[in-house]
Amino acid sequence: MNHSTGKNPGSRTTLPWTFPLADRLTGVRSSPVREILSILSRGDVISFAGGIPDPELFAVEEIRAAFDHVLTHHASKALQYASTEGEPALREQAAARMSRQLPTTAAQIQITSGSQEGLYLIGQALLDPGDVVLVERPTYLAAVQAFALSGARMIGIPADEDGVLPDELEQLIERHRPKFVYLIPTFQNPTGMCMPAGRRHQVAEVLLRTGTALVEDDPYGELRFSGDPVSPIAALPGMQAQTLVLNSMSKITAPGLRVGWIRGEGQILRSIAIVKQAVGLHSPVTDQLAVARYLATNDLDRHIGRLNAVYKSRRDAMHTELARILPEGATMTNPDGGMFLWVRLGNDIDTSHLLPAAVEEGVAFVPGSAFYAHDPDKTTLRLSYVTNSPDVIAEGIKRLSRAIRTHSKQPSPAAAR
Ligand SMILES: Cc1ncc(COP(=O)(O)O)c(C=O)c1O
Repeated sequence: MNHSTGKNPGSRTTLPWTFPLADRLTGVRSSPVREILSILSRGDVISFAGGIPDPELFAVEEIRAAFDHVLTHHASKALQYASTEGEPALREQAAARMSRQLPTTAAQIQITSGSQEGLYLIGQALLDPGDVVLVERPTYLAAVQAFALSGARMIGIPADEDGVLPDELEQLIERHRPKFVYLIPTFQNPTGMCMPAGRRHQVAEVLLRTGTALVEDDPYGELRFSGDPVSPIAALPGMQAQTLVLNSMSKITAPGLRVGWIRGEGQILRSIAIVKQAVGLHSPVTDQLAVARYLATNDLDRHIGRLNAVYKSRRDAMHTELARILPEGATMTNPDGGMFLWVRLGNDIDTSHLLPAAVEEGVAFVPGSAFYAHDPDKTTLRLSYVTNSPDVIAEGIKRLSRAIRTHSKQPSPAAAR
């Protein structure tokens, strides 16, 4: 193909080349969270946008020691190609941690590069174009993105403050025959909701009766500051074989490690491993061995205890400050763990129009519509409380309050037209 304009044979001006994209990319958006993070280069903006762990809380020395050990004593292994399923030492550690809630062997673990990769692998292994996946309303948007790349259609399950409604779930299953249901039952992203045990049993009963697979995403379960622990749905009688559980080191150690895993039973792990081979052969061996070493030589529970103490004070600060400034009619969650508070401003305030005013004031959040597979509640927003200290949170919420007041005085873009 000739890429020159041909006007002036002396100067070959190159025309922009447009790659013909795959149909399955049509309508798959880049994550609004990533985009918001990229406009936050202004140093003075307080960001409540991303679920970004506070780097001050990373166990840098311990992680450095683990990498040192691996490269000093196991370099020939650490720097070599390895098996797709993951390093045996890490699979053992993952299985031991998982077994606290659900008996698990190393053979039932597939190591992934973060649970985000796990979601993509599951989508590729299970979904054909046109398949339906039932998701929460709202849900984790990058899961929707990962499944959409397989050509799947996501349908939201109505929920209350305890999670998806079992009757609605059953009706949607009957109507759409989904390939699987995707849930984040513990400290959900974006709402922070934790599904109580009773609701988990009802949901499991529907899934068992209808023979529907469950993908249970659980990156936040160990970040609990109050209330009693609840078992994963996968641990309820009969659910083990029907569920794929995703876990991750991102929120309890460091997201830059990109280490997570999928727990599954039977043939499905073989298929997931085939997809993983095609995606990247295996996750980086040095990282896997270092995480295995870190887990073997440190008390991760103690570290998580420290995180939880800090995050609790930050959740309290954000909840208290928000209670002072939210307009009449607004509601918010007060989660027992995880990273996020979910606010419904109501009052016809479209939070995607509020965001520019907020950034102008020097504070950022994620507009809630990003988290709906369809029919968004545009008056919602997600705020992460984990990254900033209570003082900074207080200042950020003051700025948000100013932005809400300024924005509410302006005519809405629709009215201004
Ligand atoms: C619900 C949920 N699943 C998966 C992920 C991906 O996490 P990672 O790939 O870092 O393990 C996230 C990250 O925010 C999340 O909130």
